[in-house]
Amino acid sequence: MSTDRIRQLNDLREKALEGGGKARIDDQHAKGKLTARERIDLLLDPGSFEEIGMFVQHRSSDFGLEKQKYLGDGVVTGHGTVSGRPVVVFSQDFTVFGGSLSEAHAEKICKMMDHALKLGVPIVGLNDSGGARIQEGVVSLGGYADIFLRNTLASGVVPQISAIMGPCAGGAVYSPAITDFVLMVKQTSYMFVTGPNVVKTVTHEDVSFEDLGGATTHATKSGVAHFASENEAECLETIKTLLGYLPLNNLDDAPVVKSGDDPNRAEAKLDTIVPENPNKPYDMKEVIRAVVDRGEFLEVHELYAPNIIVGFARLDGRTVGIVANQPSVLAGVLDIDSSLKGARFVRFCDAFNIPLVVFEDVPGFLPGTDQEWRGIIKHGAKLLYAFSEATVPRVTVITRKAYGGAYDVMNSKHIRGDYNFGWPTAEIAVMGPKGAVEIIFKKEIAKSTDKEKATDQKVSEYREKFANPYVAAERGYIDEIILPSTTRRKLIRTMEFLQNKVDSNPKKKHGNIPL
Ligand code: HXC
Repeated sequence: MSTDRIRQLNDLREKALEGGGKARIDDQHAKGKLTARERIDLLLDPGSFEEIGMFVQHRSSDFGLEKQKYLGDGVVTGHGTVSGRPVVVFSQDFTVFGGSLSEAHAEKICKMMDHALKLGVPIVGLNDSGGARIQEGVVSLGGYADIFLRNTLASGVVPQISAIMGPCAGGAVYSPAITDFVLMVKQTSYMFVTGPNVVKTVTHEDVSFEDLGGATTHATKSGVAHFASENEAECLETIKTLLGYLPLNNLDDAPVVKSGDDPNRAEAKLDTIVPENPNKPYDMKEVIRAVVDRGEFLEVHELYAPNIIVGFARLDGRTVGIVANQPSVLAGVLDIDSSLKGARFVRFCDAFNIPLVVFEDVPGFLPGTDQEWRGIIKHGAKLLYAFSEATVPRVTVITRKAYGGAYDVMNSKHIRGDYNFGWPTAEIAVMGPKGAVEIIFKKEIAKSTDKEKATDQKVSEYREKFANPYVAAERGYIDEIILPSTTRRKLIRTMEFLQNKVDSNPKKKHGNIPL
């Protein structure tokens, strides 16, 4: 081969690597953002990236676009590895037409998504885009829809992760929204259906980009973002950690990562963690960390609906999804947001065969007009539905309260929890003792001269009878009452036993989860 041809290829490659040129790269850096390629370098194992479509260009000739062509057309696509495991990646290049999505740009993303689906490989999208390529009009909208369709078809087949590392506005937000996990970077990324200017015109609200759709907003208020990172490096690191817990696809097993943590390790502090006073809170995260391998817990949606905790950990090297009520926030009550958060996580784990461990201390569903009018019934039902349909190994540990409908919902045996354990502090009842007594002994208390004393007496009778795990254990609703300090060992042995569990749901096109 002539050296000219080799030189031509090298020159073209170099040109492609320049993206939109040095000035725009400098602008990108000045905003505290990395380039599309720098992000890929941080995400993937060194030297593992194989680029596909480096020479793709747009085909538009409107508005002078024929004179503005950039190799790659604003998105870098390909495959590589993270910790030696394959992943498909696309990374939008803001230095080329603001990372906007053209027909060719969309085709590159779709090509990689199609490969990922056939090969059973996770898809990571690094989004940094001004949205639809305005000059291309409807062709660009079609490109988005092609991606949305693939996101939907890939859902539950391969894990899909979206990092938002710049603008993501208009209909473009719906691709990340369909994916399994959304990560945002504080101060430099935003997502909204319409930006602050349109908001001002339509609703007369003054709101900044960050307040309307920044990382903190979506991680705390809307729940659109599962993670809010301080910077891009942290965001990419979180993606790597997350991938480490997940299987490559719905037929694969999650990797087993032995940590050296003793599977029989007893944690004496758990025997005293639940306060004597049932109204006193404690931190369920302490329980989780004491039980899982090396105390490592990747919390998902940490800042959203913190009255429920969800996330990934390992038990003797095997990934488990943890769902836990958090008594130190709103007493661990189930409300709309926590039901949605829990339901989505349970469904993800079930889709990807990740066993579920539930730590339960729940006083019930949150009362009030706000919750009722916004539909706690249909939203709470989502969590119930998600647990009910899950066929993965499912184990519950009731640490304290399991009251009312929430007892049923939180992975009870009645909805196919495999093994349900109670700590000696477990209380399984229709409602808390005081509420129960005020209803069933209403007349008796009303007649008594000292109502307070009469109530207290009935409360303590009720507590004696129901505020313990033994009535439920008599029925087999609780399989065993365990010492809290032995929880780790018990869970590991139980999960090992359940490893090859096979269960299924009736054949159907799909169920009708109460959306
Ligand atoms: C073509 C675009 C573009 C777009 C930005 N650029 N957005 N080119 N189509 N959508 C170009 C700019 O012309 C500029 O080119 C470069 O990208 C950088 O843009 P700036 O405006 O200089 O950057 P910045 O000040 O950081 O502002 C970024 C921005 C702004 C907030 C994203 O560019 C913007 O508002 N863009 C339009 C956003 C938008 O309305 N998109 C359509 C949304 S509707 P030069 O050559 O100067 O570097 C949508 C529908 C999707 O996306 C529907 C799916 C169903």
